[in-house]
Amino acid sequence: MKSVVIYNLQTGFTKKYAEWIAYKLKCDIFPVKEISSKKMLEYDTVIYGGFLYAVGITGIKKIKNNMSKFSGKKIAIFDVGASPSSEKVYEKVKAKNFTSEELKKIKVFYMRGGFDFTKLSFLNKILMNMLKAMMLKKKERTPDEEGMISLCECPVDFTDKGRMLNLSNPDCSVLTETKSAI
Ligand SMILES: Cc1cc2nc3c(=O)[nH]c(=O)nc-3n(C[C@H](O)[C@H](O)[C@H](O)COP(=O)(O)O)c2cc1C
Repeated sequence: MKSVVIYNLQTGFTKKYAEWIAYKLKCDIFPVKEISSKKMLEYDTVIYGGFLYAVGITGIKKIKNNMSKFSGKKIAIFDVGASPSSEKVYEKVKAKNFTSEELKKIKVFYMRGGFDFTKLSFLNKILMNMLKAMMLKKKERTPDEEGMISLCECPVDFTDKGRMLNLSNPDCSVLTETKSAI
């Protein structure tokens, strides 16, 4: 069984999980921008990790565009976000990013990453500052809104090696255990 871990990153949390998985599986690892579609076809198991951006899994297009060529392969996707793990997050992400047909062929895992404002791109810093200003103007804020404000003030890292061990099972049996990483 030849496996590959492919990841997309902005601030580093997804890369951290990708490296843990690749280390455990002793398999190849590539940033999504550095692997061709042709190269992906060399592997029996393709594991893709992308960080969440407004519930969308970044970089997932490259995997989805190749789905028709992946028949017979095991495909696992892990999405990394700052939100706490919950059934609600899991279902929302699945619904936004995949069709029911796609979900028959792939397994999806949510892994909590973190948030580091200092490492965001210039545009995302502006965006987050605007969101923060909007939240601060509100007289009453929900716990989620309070959480978002505090995320912008100080970096947080919720990554947890234990959460992704099942995904790294060398025989890939985990790929049938859909919610084990939540
Ligand atoms: C503009 C923006 C939108 C985001 N949207 C989400 C989201 O919908 N859900 C979530 O859980 N995290 C969201 N995040 C947080 C990132 O997904 C989180 O910080 C992740 O750990 C980043 O991974 P990385 O270090 O690999 O870039 C967002 C961050 C930014 C800057």
